[in-house]
Amino acid sequence: MALRTLDSLGSLQGKRVIVRCDLNVPLRDGEITDDGRVRASLPTLRALIGAGARVIVCSHLGRPDGAPDPQYSLEPVAKRLAELLESPVAFATDTVGASAQEAVSALQDGDVVVLENLRFNAGETAKDDATRRAFATELAALGDAMVSDGFGVVHRKQASVYDLAELLPSAAGLLIATELDVLDRLTENPQRPYTVVLGGSKVSDKLGVISHLLPRVDRLLIGGGMLFTFLAAQGHAVASSLLEKDQLETVRGYIADAEKRGVELVLPTDVVVASGFAADAAHEIVAADAIEESSFGASGIGLDIGPDTAVAFADAVRGSRTVFWNGPMGVFEFAAFAAGTKAVAEALTEVDGLSVVGGGDSAAAVRQLGFDDDQFGHISTGGGASLEFLEGKKLPGLEVLGWQS
Ligand code: 3PG
Repeated sequence: MALRTLDSLGSLQGKRVIVRCDLNVPLRDGEITDDGRVRASLPTLRALIGAGARVIVCSHLGRPDGAPDPQYSLEPVAKRLAELLESPVAFATDTVGASAQEAVSALQDGDVVVLENLRFNAGETAKDDATRRAFATELAALGDAMVSDGFGVVHRKQASVYDLAELLPSAAGLLIATELDVLDRLTENPQRPYTVVLGGSKVSDKLGVISHLLPRVDRLLIGGGMLFTFLAAQGHAVASSLLEKDQLETVRGYIADAEKRGVELVLPTDVVVASGFAADAAHEIVAADAIEESSFGASGIGLDIGPDTAVAFADAVRGSRTVFWNGPMGVFEFAAFAAGTKAVAEALTEVDGLSVVGGGDSAAAVRQLGFDDDQFGHISTGGGASLEFLEGKKLPGLEVLGWQS
């Protein structure tokens, strides 16, 4: 069975449609610092408004403990949504209680309400099926149909993602359809050369993706904190850089497997080593096999790929027809250690073919470094979800919509 799309729901005129979005955006002092996920939700919301539906938006934000917690309120997100839609958006101060029920019954055709954070209810994330189902049943009572559009959360078997889609007539929204289309192109017959760039702090978060993509790619570039486990696996000392000793054997296996398959595994030849983990830490560039020879000796910490590596990575990316990038090359939040990430991002904007930025930190990085979304083929809204998709895992929030991997 293929993914059920919006058309499968028939006429939505006057119907109450619950839309599960992923509006889990970063906030600082109550201000949204990256509204990418809110903007990514607009096409589906506009389509539903245009179809005359009464639109009930729900989402999680952060990881509150199953009870109301003001720092995780969706109210600032509802305000941002109203600005982007250029029309009023109501806000319910609870999810299935009196406020939500009142707001939903006040909706006219084409109106929008945002419910408070789903995770203020313990039932949303409950492991126990009956508890989760009970919460989903309360939610389902608010609507006539459900549209699932929170791609970033489809890897979670949670009440609003999974159970709700079983309880009401349900279909995938336009964001999920777009994300799947792009991610599918990364796994089925990608145009070659196909390069995957992986970074981020931990290699243990990327094991599944490396195993699944190694047989499919032409080049695998490794940066970020995880590069030090690769260097150590090759026998180099990495001083006080991030090192996952328990992954050394696995990483040696990947190095051997890449060689056997003829995949070009590109590791940094130079790195930026700092005296400590701080924005203003003293730092210098050293060869990747001489990290302990920096003036910081055994206390040096690698915080970015070096300039030669940045050039080599950028060349490899630019010369590819398909590129998937997940995970920053260094601590891009500190200006002194952002150059590697910036070089890779810039090269991605010049790809003649499909360039995809995996969600999470990489999406935050490109926006923080001043790039526009439309400079890339696609910026995924899913961090964990895109990775799990690329690992070939079955995702409950997609399966429930008829998707078969
Ligand atoms: C994300 O940010 O990756 C999604 O919103 C999912 O959030 P979660 O990891 O808290 O479930």
